[in-house]
Amino acid sequence: MSAELIRAPEPVGEGALADHPRQLTDGFGRSFPYLRLSLTEACNFRCSYCLPDGYQADGRPRFLQVEEIARLVRAFAALGMSKIRLTGGEPSLRKDLDEIIATVAAVPGIRKVAITTNGTLLPRRLPGWHRAGLTALNVSMDSLQRERFKTITGHDRLPEIEQGLALAQALGLPAIKLNAVLLRGLNDDELPQWMDYLRDRPFSVRFIELMRTGDNEAYFQRHHLRADVVIEQLLAAGWHERPRAADAGPAREYSHPDHRGTVGIIAPYSRDFCKGCNRLRVTAKGDLRLCLFGEFGVPLRPLLQSDDDHDALLARITTQLGLKAAGHGLHQGQTGLTPHLASIGG
Ligand code: 5AD
Ligand code: SF4
Repeated sequence: MSAELIRAPEPVGEGALADHPRQLTDGFGRSFPYLRLSLTEACNFRCSYCLPDGYQADGRPRFLQVEEIARLVRAFAALGMSKIRLTGGEPSLRKDLDEIIATVAAVPGIRKVAITTNGTLLPRRLPGWHRAGLTALNVSMDSLQRERFKTITGHDRLPEIEQGLALAQALGLPAIKLNAVLLRGLNDDELPQWMDYLRDRPFSVRFIELMRTGDNEAYFQRHHLRADVVIEQLLAAGWHERPRAADAGPAREYSHPDHRGTVGIIAPYSRDFCKGCNRLRVTAKGDLRLCLFGEFGVPLRPLLQSDDDHDALLARITTQLGLKAAGHGLHQGQTGLTPHLASIGG
């Protein structure tokens, strides 16, 4: 990738933001009610498609502190954003996660606080997150089979994760989703088992097509599987695609009258995927990323040091949104800045 592509464009016209729109929108008519905020790049797993050698700290990274997060979320809420998803790396590695959740949940305008986690700490930490105001939970679960789960993630932790999910149900968490990355040769024969699993559990499992990142090219060639294969099997088993809500994200949802759970398909290589994009991302070090596979990040952290910069922060965010591209360049093999998703928060 050329240096030209990596350089962030200069923020332009920031002084001019008198009347920012209440709802963030871009030049393609997409609105963004939803922010994915990464809390750390660190992870305790070694998922074979993400961090096969485990997380390697680069010096002593300083991730966003609670006060910085509070200012950031206040700015996005002032721009009409109502949902924050906390991601990583593995967000539960933050010792101050309860405080972060409570802080985010207390920002006026924020109605949903979700977390995406690998689930290992759920049994111990979920009650605290729930008390702090967590409203939704996404747990990565690439296989329902213990041995395979261990092969894919590097850790034999499936039993704790299942225990954590039962606890989430007992606590009455309103939205529980599971993420499974589709991997040819590793977990691509499990759909019947998943259907069984979803019969009595009100969970939504999202099958995610493996995405190519800077670090996983050979792995991608070996294990990438088109989500169409799963869609065909679902339809053949009597599942139906649900009508898409106007504000639906990129997942296509399927349900079946005999099953309490639902299936979502996330296929980033499908033609209309980017049309449904409804999220922005901020990295654990405070860079705004307009697209998972975008070529630049916009530093917001300098404007998170004082409440006095609130207006300048709003201006920087809305100006940059004008630069969000219509779609990613994955089809051309362009993976942007992303070496692996732990660096930006899936
Ligand atoms: N392709 C697809 N999904 C990925 N994830 C991490 N890396 C990739 C990739 N290359 C998923 C994780 C987790 C979510 C946050 O992102 O499995 O469920
Ligand atoms: Fe960790 Fe998630 Fe990457 Fe797995 S996919 S190594 S759980 S950041």
